[in-house]
Amino acid sequence: SKGCKLVGCGSALPSIQISNDDLSEIVDTNDEWISVRTGIRNRRILSRKDSLTALATEAAQKALQMAEVEPNDVDLVLLCTSTPEDLFGSAPQIQKALGCSHNPLAYDITAACSGFLLGLVSAACYIRGGGFNNVLVIGADALSRYVDWTDRGSCILFGDAAGAVLLQSCDSEEDGLFAFDMHSDGEGQRHLKAGMKEDNTDQELATNGSLLELLPKGSSSYSCIEMNGKEVFRFAVRVVPHSIELALEKAGLGVSSIDWLILHQANQRIIDAVATRLEVPQERVISNLANYGNTSAASIPLALDEAVRSGKVQAGDTIATAGFGAGLTWGSAIIRW
Ligand code: ACO
Repeated sequence: SKGCKLVGCGSALPSIQISNDDLSEIVDTNDEWISVRTGIRNRRILSRKDSLTALATEAAQKALQMAEVEPNDVDLVLLCTSTPEDLFGSAPQIQKALGCSHNPLAYDITAACSGFLLGLVSAACYIRGGGFNNVLVIGADALSRYVDWTDRGSCILFGDAAGAVLLQSCDSEEDGLFAFDMHSDGEGQRHLKAGMKEDNTDQELATNGSLLELLPKGSSSYSCIEMNGKEVFRFAVRVVPHSIELALEKAGLGVSSIDWLILHQANQRIIDAVATRLEVPQERVISNLANYGNTSAASIPLALDEAVRSGKVQAGDTIATAGFGAGLTWGSAIIRW
């Protein structure tokens, strides 16, 4: 049977940086509160005129370069994002921009902060069962476009970024995705959502009982992120350690075989709590929250890319990774770099 392995990674960041002090000018907050409660100091924000699709393309290009794979050898592009620039999906625009001229399949996956993990597992399934050879998995989000900049409880958390990996088919002995565990719970949506806005405009145009009254206006939009931080915190600390334990068990590995723990970067206190629960020592935990905040689907590939390029993560290392967030969705995977 076929295996799949990670052969390249890349990331890209918007240039605008916003510090905690900058935020304290627009909402009632301060650097100390944010740093102590979250570990976040800075975040990058995509300006209105910049394109998330372009940022995602840049990350994908870097992953291809590292892997020394040509765009024309890519046979699937998965864009994990909850903030696409086209309602119908942005992945085909990345396929076009990369110059994959043989029309490989490209589509979006929506699963908030768990998106990258679900993309990774989907890519592995395509490779193992579907005859695909090179699959780009991109995590890219610009949650800043849906943040309520008057809500100090949430606007301090998020940043924008893109990260990517290339997953390639290989012999089963080289397989680099040992096991995974994934879940969702729609019941928890009330704790974290950005629902569609109710369309109550132009009602006066409609005559009583007419069809017009029932028809939407034509341009719908989404509300800002609504979050119950405490509940999301509790959820993450409850489900993530268990999920990683399940994935380790499926892989037939113990905690001691984890070289690196790369969790979705949401809050340093969540990362610390999970590491403590699993008894993974601090020096094995990767965190870049201080610089970028919570970048949603981009956070895991961004953290991985920085750790690989800085020489921390080395070929052959075993990584436990986990995503969790809106949906609610969560999951983990045990992978080899
Ligand atoms: N600055 C100063 N004070 C603040 C701020 C702020 N930015 N935000 C809230 N406060 C105040 C509150 O009003 C409250 O004051 P009160 O005690 O007078 O009522 C106090 O600080 C404590 O607020 P809590 O909400 O209880 O603070 P908590 O310790 O829970 O931290 C936080 C809040 C940081 C949001 C935390 O709950 C958290 O990180 N939760 C996880 C959120 C998360 O990861 N979400 C993303 C999921 S991923 C995805 O899919 C998008």
